[in-house]
Amino acid sequence: MNGTGSSRPATVEAGDTGQVVTSVKDVRVAAVRALGSRAGRAAAGACVLEGRSLIEQVLTAGTPLREVLRAQSASAPEDEQLAGRLRDRGVAVHRVRDGVLRQVAGSGRPVAWLALAALPAEAEVSAPWGDFVLVCDGVADPGNLGTLVRSGRALGIDDIVLTDPGTDMTSRRVLDSSRGTALTARMRRFGSPAEAVAALRTAGFQIVATSPHGRHLQALAPLDGRPVALVVGGETSGVGQEVIDAADLLVAIPMAGAVESLNVGVAAGISMYELRTKRVLSVLTERIRGSLGRDITLTGRFIRDALDRAAREAAGLSSAQVIALMVVTAEQHTPADELRRDLGVDAQELHDLLVPLTERGWLAHRENAYTRTPEGEQALAALWPVHQQVEQGLLAGLSADERRTLRDLLGRVRTNATGHAGLLPLQHRDQGREAGGDAL
Ligand SMILES: C[S@@+](CC[C@H](N)C(=O)[O-])C[C@H]1O[C@@H](n2cnc3c(N)ncnc32)[C@H](O)[C@@H]1O
Repeated sequence: MNGTGSSRPATVEAGDTGQVVTSVKDVRVAAVRALGSRAGRAAAGACVLEGRSLIEQVLTAGTPLREVLRAQSASAPEDEQLAGRLRDRGVAVHRVRDGVLRQVAGSGRPVAWLALAALPAEAEVSAPWGDFVLVCDGVADPGNLGTLVRSGRALGIDDIVLTDPGTDMTSRRVLDSSRGTALTARMRRFGSPAEAVAALRTAGFQIVATSPHGRHLQALAPLDGRPVALVVGGETSGVGQEVIDAADLLVAIPMAGAVESLNVGVAAGISMYELRTKRVLSVLTERIRGSLGRDITLTGRFIRDALDRAAREAAGLSSAQVIALMVVTAEQHTPADELRRDLGVDAQELHDLLVPLTERGWLAHRENAYTRTPEGEQALAALWPVHQQVEQGLLAGLSADERRTLRDLLGRVRTNATGHAGLLPLQHRDQGREAGGDAL
């Protein structure tokens, strides 16, 4: 390898450039040093990532890297592997003398890898939102900020809101503690907490502020189904009073013992997990409540229960048995297959259903078909008015036209259901039983 102590820029090419940088004045090294300040990062539109595993994670997330500095001594198989990935991505890798790289990193400890990553632009305030937003109101510690973003992203939260121009999300500590996720989060910045809350309210969020002195126990927070904006506060002063005043809820995580508050990173992790889970469950419950399938199933069950009650009181039978008796009596002779289709049961269920009727002599079973008997006709004559009375009660208030429409609509839904790819038609259910050796 050639040594280079000059400030002459080397040609940037993919993979290892084959030169060793030996001076802190080298332009590639100087470019990284310039990113030590927030202003330098803003001017270059880039930030610094330290360490092999962080660089690997950021590469995996697809964040563009501009250049990479690799310590001369970093030659373990894992280092070679990362070098290969960078080469494949077309990222230039410069070898740097270990002492120089340590100086550039400025941490006083050995550093094997440093990378320059492009800084993504912060999102426009008007960009679309997800359904759960984390608002950092005055959180100052870079380690906490990074932890908040990392936990949020791990829980599927993409939107991070900052309530002041001062919070810096580009420092090495933020990037390190966020494990690079700060580069892929949708970050929005407002001029003040009041502006942030106003924008979130306009966007339809339920604003949930957190405080160790909150009025609501977080686990019982009455979420109302709107998207949630969870506000966490700064290390010393907590969530600002104007945000608390404007929030829909102020929630607390209960604490035992002589503890004034939780660390904001820990508290936010608990809040995001608990409120997000609560929200998913409440939205799910609403969706289930609003589902037509649930309505039809429930209605069907209530109708069957009403008919069952009446049939049991009148003859000790179920409504399905009375209906089977009606069908066979009306048709005189009904093949078992047809009866199964009419009643929506499989062969075993039909058998179990009709045994009491054949035992009473109300139906005769011969050659895989059922025929009516005079005793059955008599029994039906007695049961029919009971059945009709219940049916009239169920359809009370519906006009003749509405009843016809209801029948038509139900027939169409039934056709869709039995033709639906996800539903197992009755004959297949029977085949399944046969394959499993169940008695028919
Ligand atoms: C260290 S605390 C701030 C303490 C501050 N003295 C206060 O009274 O809010 C930082 C943030 O963590 C969150 N936090 C800490 N403990 C909490 C708890 N028990 N319940 C809810 N949030 C809590 C809140 O967002 C709080 O603003």
